[in-house]
Amino acid sequence: MTTKKYETVLIEKQDGITWLIMNRPDKRNAMSPQLHLDMDDALDELSGDPETQVLVLTGAGEAFCAGQDIKLYFRGGDADPKRARGKASRASNQWRWQRLSTFPEPTIAMINGYCFGGGFTQVCACDLAVAADEAVFGLSEVNWGILPGGIVSWNVAQTLNMRDGMYYALTGDTFDGKKAKEIGFVNFSYPKATLKEETIKLAKKLMEKSPPCCATPRKRCARCAS
Ligand code: COA
Repeated sequence: MTTKKYETVLIEKQDGITWLIMNRPDKRNAMSPQLHLDMDDALDELSGDPETQVLVLTGAGEAFCAGQDIKLYFRGGDADPKRARGKASRASNQWRWQRLSTFPEPTIAMINGYCFGGGFTQVCACDLAVAADEAVFGLSEVNWGILPGGIVSWNVAQTLNMRDGMYYALTGDTFDGKKAKEIGFVNFSYPKATLKEETIKLAKKLMEKSPPCCATPRKRCARCAS
């Protein structure tokens, strides 16, 4: 199957693992409207891809994702709020939640660096998550006087326990990969130097164990569940 090319997303395939990479490294992979549209299309394409046995979502360069692009996502649609902003917002929620959480193969979020605000949603939507010890997580919205918006608060409430979720949303304090593992936000944390190698080991384990049809229990199809 030919792999489509995108302006803000990279797709690399090797040995059954598909690496889906948010690719705006100069902007720390902040999510622009174009990135949302590219991701939405890429995940739709990959969901039927026979070469993809495990999907790993990560970021290019130093960051996983610096959240929504403050300029392009929040202010870019000002001139045409109903159409332009609405389109970006629908694509944003669709790929980060619906498409990822119902992806037919197992998904791993590999958090290689900064992960802020809206970037939490795609971590929560993936089946498993691994982080670099050095990664920096933050629900920074409170620094502008608001709680995490969109679907982030809901995702965090589902994934973290109530005390940790409230603490990080109300203070905006950052935490590293080791802390993310300790509070159960990710499954494992490794030094950045070995993060990719460890993620490949995990993906291979999933490929050995997962039945070819229904990847994870919550995604069981009617045939396998019966
Ligand atoms: N929206 C738009 N642009 C962003 C961005 C965001 N969320 N996060 C980073 N960028 C841009 C910066 O404006 C800068 O662009 P420039 O080179 O054209 O000036 C570039 O990315 C690099 O950012 P910089 O702050 O210089 O990198 P850093 O490595 O020192 O710090 C972060 C990285 C992620 C810690 C820092 O950029 C940051 O705090 N970003 C905001 C994160 C956030 O609060 N997100 C929630 C949004 S709701």
